[in-house]
Amino acid sequence: MRLQDKVCIVTGSANGIGLATARKFVSEEAIVIVCDLDAAQVEAAKSELLASGGRAEGYRVDVSERETVDAMVDSVKRRFGRIDVLVNNAGITRDASLLKMDEAQFDSVIAVNLKGAFNCTQAVAATMVEQRAGAIINTSSISGVYGNFGQSNYSASKAGVIGMTKTWARELGPKGVRVNAIVPGAVATDILKTVPEKILRQVENACWQRRIGQPEELANAYAFLASDEASYINGTTLEVSGGVSA
Ligand code: NAI
Repeated sequence: MRLQDKVCIVTGSANGIGLATARKFVSEEAIVIVCDLDAAQVEAAKSELLASGGRAEGYRVDVSERETVDAMVDSVKRRFGRIDVLVNNAGITRDASLLKMDEAQFDSVIAVNLKGAFNCTQAVAATMVEQRAGAIINTSSISGVYGNFGQSNYSASKAGVIGMTKTWARELGPKGVRVNAIVPGAVATDILKTVPEKILRQVENACWQRRIGQPEELANAYAFLASDEASYINGTTLEVSGGVSA
């Protein structure tokens, strides 16, 4: 099994791509730490993973609130003595065109998508450096690479994630820790619920495979980058989008 006994923190793992990733990781024999905003959703995800025969723990964490991140990481370290993988998956959208976006929309997306990834990574990095081993996988977006109408805040946060990925890969690479980013295209989760049908059809047409991706297709990529099969992959961005036209 590719993630046998690895302690893997997955943020935003009560839903969507994060939950699919948690399912994939337990199927690869990992110990999965489910982290999300809503305690009941965390419990539901954890129960499902345990019922499938997997090993999982759950924590209510807001990645934008450093205290909740630190409390989770301290508890995981006390319980398991190590942290092997961090998937920075938690993310939100608050879309509006440049002329209409207010400050709260801008700040909240930066706080969760960009600062949240920083908070979680800083909280686990010293442990991984001490172990001289670890894998961190960030979640960018094709919006962060190509830009997207109505997503000044989101594109900025997701482009920033790529910048942090490359910086951390340089800083932590010599210390045995790999850092990479996944760049998802459009994936069928709740995050697309606010996108109008007409725009979704345009998104499908812009994809060279002419379809929206499934969360499980992303989970496979996370599992690969988290595993030792990716032992010489560091500082890269892996686009999982079916191919897109900019
Ligand atoms: P989703 O909305 O289905 O799931 C996101 C999860 O993150 C939810 O469970 C939510 O409660 C959690 N979350 C939100 N804010 C949080 C916070 N402050 N602290 C902890 N957890 C928090 O979204 P989806 O689609 O699964 O997205 C996962 C990641 O993939 C996000 O970073 C998103 O930006 C990225 N992405 C998704 C795409 C898509 O089309 N679905 C495309 C490109 C990137």
